[in-house]
Amino acid sequence: MRVFFPSRLRCQWLCVMVMLFVVGASSTLAAEPKNTVSGQSKYDAAGCARCHGASGKGNGPQAMALFFMFKVPNMADPAYMQTRSDDVLFRTIKQGKASMPSFGLKLTDPEIKELVVYIRSFTKTP
Ligand code: HEC
Repeated sequence: MRVFFPSRLRCQWLCVMVMLFVVGASSTLAAEPKNTVSGQSKYDAAGCARCHGASGKGNGPQAMALFFMFKVPNMADPAYMQTRSDDVLFRTIKQGKASMPSFGLKLTDPEIKELVVYIRSFTKTP
């Protein structure tokens, strides 16, 4: 059988399709803990999920475009998140860092605090 595309390229497309499918499926199946609903709506409204993914794993659609330059951290990894203080998370959202945009002009401090609480919930709901 003749192979029309270099097999490496075809593999990449397959990976992208599989990842998009996983992202789509996980966002519809994700359980919503009640106490973080407000933080969650802000997370969705501000577009955090397009880079960080619906469950914070760093697998949003735009993370693919950033993938080669900046790694989007996995905020659903408990071991990693233990190394991040609330203060660091707060400041990163407010001031931005590398390709993470700053939200200090779009969100108020209490709103950013709600987002930090919501982000913490990623490690609690497996
Ligand atoms: C354009 C893509 C993009 C968007 C949109 C985005 N982020 Fe990020 N975010 C990143 C990247 C990339 C990093 C890693 C920055 C670094 O450390 O180099 C990051 C880092 C973070 C961190 C720090 C995590 C750590 O490891 O310390 C937090 C918290 C965070 N983002 C929350 C948010 C929230 C909340 C929103 C929505 C209001 C958001 N992000 C929107 C790309 C994005």
